[in-house]
Amino acid sequence: MNIALTIALSKGRIFKETLPLLAAAGITPKDDPETSRKLILDTSLDDVKLVIIRASDVPTYVSYGAADVGVAGKDVLMEHGGDGLYEPLDLKIAKCRLMVAGFENENPSRRRMRIATKYVNSTRRYYADRREQVEIIKLYGSMELAPIVGLADRIVDVVDTGNTLKANGLVPLEHIADISSRLIVNRASMKMKHARIADFIDKLGAACGS
Ligand code: ATP
Ligand code: PRP
Repeated sequence: MNIALTIALSKGRIFKETLPLLAAAGITPKDDPETSRKLILDTSLDDVKLVIIRASDVPTYVSYGAADVGVAGKDVLMEHGGDGLYEPLDLKIAKCRLMVAGFENENPSRRRMRIATKYVNSTRRYYADRREQVEIIKLYGSMELAPIVGLADRIVDVVDTGNTLKANGLVPLEHIADISSRLIVNRASMKMKHARIADFIDKLGAACGS
């Protein structure tokens, strides 16, 4: 009997960059999540399904076992904490850097700097390690706007080319972490479906050179 495998992915860059790796494991989705409204996609293998969810929800689905495996950015995993998850492979896709950014010649007017970010936990940890007291403002996106309108002094966000910062008059100031996407595996699935998942990890590992 075949052992079913559910894979959690977000659409956009992670889906696109994971496609060639899945192909190396013989898995081709039967629908395109950019055009289909389906949230569960069949694949070329009868026993493999893809669930399409928000990037920040991937660790949650996998840690509760609603998906056996998933692909998530290290930024998302640092924020989630990684409870109940194995992280066996660096897929080396969706590479970027988690950074503090702000104006080049800033004039701090507040006693405690205000940092706008969706990465609240990583930001809190970063400043606590440096013994700097800051006020963190949680946002869900478009962080670059916050310094421009005076909501915050700085932001913490992922940076790749730097074009988004530049277009908004900001510069990268401090490097927090190098980011790439990781394969994550539910701990119970790893035991119960060991041979199936070990084979999947081997094929993805060979395809991404890890
Ligand atoms: P959500 O929908 O949960 O808010 P998101 O919009 O951040 O997530 P994506 O933009 O698809 O989701 O990003 C997925 C992952 O890709 C991020 O977690 C990060 O690891 C990486 N990433 C984000 N922006 C870039 C970028 N500009 N270049 C390269 N990798 C990136
Ligand atoms: C991400 C991130 C930055 C941008 C950085 O946004 O939030 O805004 O990429 O990339 P760059 O340095 O190459 O400009 P994304 O394009 O994923 O849009 P999103 O805000 O919808 O996630």
